[in-house]
Order: sequence, then C-alpha cells, then structure tokens
Amino acid sequence: MPTPRSGTPLPVSRRQALGLGATGAALLLPATRWAATANAAEAPPAWVGVSGEALREPAVLRSVDGVLDVTLRAGPVRVPVDGRPWHLLGYDVPGADPAADSGLPGPTLVVQPGDRLRVRLLNDLPEPTNLHTHGLHVSGEGTGDNVFRVVESLDAMDVTVDLRADHRPGTHWYHPHLHGWGARQLFGGLAGALVVEPRGGQGSTGSGRRAPRERVMLLHSLQVDADGRPLDPLAARQSAHTRLVNGQLDPVVDIAPGETQRWRLVNSSVNDVLRLRLDGLDVEHVASDGLSLRRPHRVEELELSAGQRADLLVTGREPGEHVFETMPVEVGFGVVLPAARLATVRVGGASRTPRQVRLVDAGRPPEDLRHARVDARHELAMTMTGGFGIDGRPYEPGRIDRVMRLGSVEEWTVHNPTGLIHPFHIHVNPFQVTHVDGEPVQDPEWRDTVLVGRNGGSVTFRTRFEDFTGRVVYHCHFSTHHDLGMMGVAEVVAPGEDPVGFPDDEPGAHAEHG
Ligand code: C2O
Ligand code: CU
Repeated sequence: MPTPRSGTPLPVSRRQALGLGATGAALLLPATRWAATANAAEAPPAWVGVSGEALREPAVLRSVDGVLDVTLRAGPVRVPVDGRPWHLLGYDVPGADPAADSGLPGPTLVVQPGDRLRVRLLNDLPEPTNLHTHGLHVSGEGTGDNVFRVVESLDAMDVTVDLRADHRPGTHWYHPHLHGWGARQLFGGLAGALVVEPRGGQGSTGSGRRAPRERVMLLHSLQVDADGRPLDPLAARQSAHTRLVNGQLDPVVDIAPGETQRWRLVNSSVNDVLRLRLDGLDVEHVASDGLSLRRPHRVEELELSAGQRADLLVTGREPGEHVFETMPVEVGFGVVLPAARLATVRVGGASRTPRQVRLVDAGRPPEDLRHARVDARHELAMTMTGGFGIDGRPYEPGRIDRVMRLGSVEEWTVHNPTGLIHPFHIHVNPFQVTHVDGEPVQDPEWRDTVLVGRNGGSVTFRTRFEDFTGRVVYHCHFSTHHDLGMMGVAEVVAPGEDPVGFPDDEPGAHAEHG
C-alpha cells in the first residue's frame, strides 16, 4: 500500500476564496460555517496516497478536412485503479490499443468551427443509452445533439453535429443523457472531453509567442463495491466517493519551473462539487464552461460543480511536489463532501524563462446582455416536494414546459427552495449570470451550468436563444436529480410561428426507464 499523506485541512484564512469569478465567490459558504462542518464530515478523505503513475491523457481524435468521423463503443471497460481492476463503463474506439485508450475517459474529440462531427455510437451496454454534446451550440433536433433519441442495447446510432463557422472555441464534453439511465451510466464512467479549437488549430501564432502545452483532465467521482463495480449512484454515499483524474487515483502531473500549461478541466461526476486548490503554482482562470472570461484572473480556489468546465493557465514556480486538491463542500442535509487529493503536481526539470503564452481562442467573450432590452422573463424553482421536479412538476417527456422566441433576450431567475445545492444547466445556449441571491454580481460571466445555493438561493441570468429552433432541456446537473425528474423541456420557436410540440411519431420520444 502506498503511504497515506496527511489530510490536515488548511487554516481557514487560506481557504477563503480569492479572485474567484463573481458567481463562484457568491456561492461560497462563510469560512466559519465551513470550518465547523468540515469537522463533521462522516467519512475520511477517499484518497489513499500517491499512486506514482504519470497522468494518462485520453487519446485525441482530430477532425480532418472539416470532418471528425469516429466510432465510439459505450460499454464495460476494465481499468486498473490503485493496482486492482475496476469494472467500469467507458467509451472506447473499437480496434484501438487498450493500453493507449482504456475508454475511461473516452477519447478527446477535437473539432474546429465549421466542422462536422459524426459519431457512430455502438451500444454495448445491457440497456438503452444515447449521447449529448454538452456545451456545443448546435441543433438539438433530428440526428444532432438530440437527447430524446434512444439507442437500444446492442444497436448502433449515428449522431451528426454540425458546428457553425462562427462557433466559439472552448472546452466541452460528451456523456449519455437518456432520462432514467443517464446518472448510472455517467457514474460508471461514460464521459469524454470535446474540444473546439480555433480554426487552424492552437499551434504557433507566428508572433514569437507559443501556445502552451495542453492537458485534458476529467475529474470523476464514484464508488465501487468490493469487486470494483460501480454502485448504483442512488445507493452510493456521496461523501464516500473516490475522486479520479482521467481514471487515475492521484496521478503525477509534470511541469517545468517557468513553464505554463493549459489545463482543460471537466467535472464529469454525477453529483460532486469540487473546490479546487493548487498551492505553490500560479493559476490563472481563463474560461468557464468553454466560454472565455472577459477578465481572466489569478485564482487560489475554484469551485467546479458537476457539469462545469474550467480552463486554467498553470505556471510552475520552484521545483518540488504540490498537491492538486479539493476542499470540503457542504451540499446540504448535513452532507459534507470531504477534502481529497486529486493529483500531485511535480515541478522539476530544466527551468524555462517564463514567456507570455498566447491563447488564440481567448479574448472573445460573448456579448454583455446587461443593458440589452429584455423580451421575456421566466421564474422557475428546482423543487423536491412531491419528488424531484421543476416548479413541483416532475419531468414529462411529452410536455413542453416553456416556449422561447428565437433571437429574443430572456431573463431567467432560478430559485432553490430546497435544502440542497443544485447546478442548473440549459442545453445549446449559454447564459450570462447577472445576480446571485438577488444581488448583482460584479463580473457577470457566461456559463452553461451554474450552482444555485440552497434554502432560498437564486441565480438570475440573461440569455439569447440563437440560431436553433426546437426542443431543449434544462435541468439540475446532478444527474441523479434530473433522472428523478428535475428537468423541463423548452421549445425555441421562430418569431411568428407556433410551437410544434412533441411529435408523437418520433422514435423513442416517449421512452420510459425501467
Ligand atoms: Cu451535461 Cu443535459 O447535460
Ligand atoms: Cu439537483
């Protein structure tokens, strides 16, 4: 057994968030309350020590001549975790060398604006599934990013996603999204990163400044039984989850002194909320949910809930080992997610002269909607009375809950009257968070998933439903919650047209879970 490392919590003052994005900062618990609850954590930290393995990065599949054609098999995978085999779920590429592509996480799909992504999904699970491209601004209809579709066990489905020529570069991800099945499939490990690169790639910029080395990290949390098989996420204890990075327990990430790397972080868990720290290195936060920040800034601590992404520029300083860790988070009802060591960052090797890195895709944040004319306002609440739902109603696949006009600016206020925090997500169009708990935020950034505080918390955002008509879902991104009904359906309708509703003849439209 590797030697366990000390998990002594940091002094309270050091845990206070500095330089967090406005929404993140506003959702942090007061340090004193946090300190008190941290001691009440029912389980010890789930990490067991340094594995000593170098961070594995998922295989990268890039588009060629405007097309990325890929076959993904969703099915059981066997992955060694901490020296023993775990029997998880993953997306692998048939015929690929399992040593290079374990399926956990799935390969990183890299596309560019204007590209077509064509996924042939082979369902090797004993149950139905489907595929969602979380964060892409693409059509949710037909054979696109359509979460109402179903591929039965041992069947195949083609998903074709066309990115507009003006699609923003960013860090996104893919995962199953079949209502009633999504949570346990994601919990088992079915997820991969989906990166939109700037046109022409990230490469050299011709200005003497270099694009930094990139690392993709899927931060996943799960619990397995004695045989290394995932528990049902509803039966698992949230505070006893094991935290993995790219399917590894505490891998080693190497960086040279003075070197800057771009880390693309994806919280691919079902219901984890991370408060990331990486002391001893410089960490600059440049994008949230694949959307450039208007003011990139240094961070000491960063909140990342299930579904969210963060792009960081990490620069090594003095040689030595540093801990990439998550701090305790109280989710409500007395549940505290414990601190854990996620990875060990080893600063070493020949030091480099720090240089300005250049991100070709930075500096084009979406428009500021704060002064736009609002065409419609929506209020909704994530509720748990009478079961999980929105406004007291559980998800009903054949029902349209709201209608939105294409091109109009809408303001939504999402309330959380429950005793648990919930991350709220809408498909296809991101939003600009303007208020948290009714207070205006200082730096209204864009995202596609936002945590809403418990016991009466709220988040207000503005959004414009652009380019695509048709149905989109919005839901809590704790997948267990949306599987239980905390999800709604909106239809985006062109100006002057009537909603089409839910076509009854659509295959799988009314698929029930069993
Ligand atoms: Cu990442 Cu509707 O989901
Ligand atoms: Cu929820």
